[in-house]
Amino acid sequence: MPLFITFEGGEGSGKSFQASVLHKLLTRDNIPSILTREPGGTPVGEEITKCLKWNNSSISPLAEMLLFNASRSHLIETVISPALAEGKVVVCDRFTDSTIVYQGYGRKLDMKTIEKVNKIATGGLIPDLTILMDIIPGIGLARKGIQKRDRFEKEGLSFHNRVRNGYLELATKEPGRWLIIDAGKSKEEIAREIWLKVKELIQERGNQKGEENVDDAAGEIFEESTDERAGQ
Ligand SMILES: Nc1ncnc2c1ncn2[C@@H]1O[C@H](COP(=O)(O)OP(=O)(O)O)[C@@H](O)[C@H]1O
Ligand SMILES: [Mg+2]
Repeated sequence: MPLFITFEGGEGSGKSFQASVLHKLLTRDNIPSILTREPGGTPVGEEITKCLKWNNSSISPLAEMLLFNASRSHLIETVISPALAEGKVVVCDRFTDSTIVYQGYGRKLDMKTIEKVNKIATGGLIPDLTILMDIIPGIGLARKGIQKRDRFEKEGLSFHNRVRNGYLELATKEPGRWLIIDAGKSKEEIAREIWLKVKELIQERGNQKGEENVDDAAGEIFEESTDERAGQ
């Protein structure tokens, strides 16, 4: 039973950490799944990411949006679509909503243009569940520290506030797809909340057998999980 789950939210909100925990829980339960991320997730995508995050010269908002979608298109064609076709659960750290929010609300690029290009890149693929890690921008940025900030992390607070409000607006418009998480809570609490929702979705969609005691199971994996993807 294919399922496409995306993580969204501002810098340092815990997306990469929770995506990794979720992937571990799925693996532990023998639910075929993959963990990937945007931008990146493929060799060519990682090259595009380097340019988008670490290039010191300016990039026009339109070029930036096209680069994100170039990476996205390649990721979908070579990683996401094949995994979904095999019936896997795909967990993706950021997806199209990031582009709407960062380039649309953040950079103020025309929304219609973004939506058009997003649609070309995705071929209309929409996540089944999008988890919004909502956090006050100052708190998220502080978690990441001030060292080695990328092009987006270096933006001012007004940019990050527009991003946060953009996400909340998208989630409010489409409540069926989004799960809003208070990302200021503890890692354990958040992992449990997400796991409960994903289990519910899996049980609703398919006939996969689930763990009875979801809370304990999540706690156990949480203990083992590492920050290996944190900071990305
Ligand atoms: N709920 C949380 N409370 C406190 N710190 C957290 C929480 N979730 C993640 N962190 C820490 O914050 C930092 C950023 O997390 P990360 O998962 O990289 O965020 P993102 O991918 O959203 O930028 C990491 O050091 C991570 O361990
Ligand atoms: Mg990350």
